[in-house]
Amino acid sequence: MIRVVDSKISVDDFNYLTDKVGWGTRDANIIEEALNNTLYSVSVYDNDKIVGYGRLIGDKTIFIYIQDIMVVPEYQGQRIGTQIMNALLRKIDEYKKINPNIRTYLGASKGKEKFYEKFGFKTRANVDLGEGMVLF
Ligand SMILES: CC(C)(COP(=O)(O)OP(=O)(O)OC[C@H]1O[C@@H](n2cnc3c(N)ncnc32)[C@H](O)[C@@H]1OP(=O)(O)O)[C@@H](O)C(=O)NCCC(=O)NCCS
Repeated sequence: MIRVVDSKISVDDFNYLTDKVGWGTRDANIIEEALNNTLYSVSVYDNDKIVGYGRLIGDKTIFIYIQDIMVVPEYQGQRIGTQIMNALLRKIDEYKKINPNIRTYLGASKGKEKFYEKFGFKTRANVDLGEGMVLF
């Protein structure tokens, strides 16, 4: 049975998921701090096994970023990513009751843009904004 739960994920489960989707793992202390500083997150379980995750970071009032949307490969294509996105967007709608002008960003992985377009996201170049930029 698939369950979408709005609770904090464990460090081990987070590293398990990032590894499963090909992003590797990070030091436990780094993940712990990142999760502690997360605004909101949802985890997806098949019975007790973690199979998906997504989180919001940001200031809750002006800018929010959607990060780390992950579904383990064996569970992809079953609308779990959609459920994760819908749960995160519902939470953003709650924040928007306080400040309707929140701007929500995300950086799509290469080839994943079409998935996000289904939820109304547009590439910045298509809305008269400059390119999104990143510093590694
Ligand atoms: C991207 C990801 C979260 C999608 O999750 P999912 O559970 O497989 O997606 P869903 O089953 O909810 O798909 C919803 C729709 O998006 C489409 N879609 C999903 N991935 C897509 C892709 N890479 N390219 C184009 N369309 C895609 C589906 O075909 C489906 O379309 P439909 O509504 O027309 O049927 C998942 O593939 C994943 O975890 N990938 C690895 C990690 C990753 O790259 N995450 C994104 C970080 S930015």
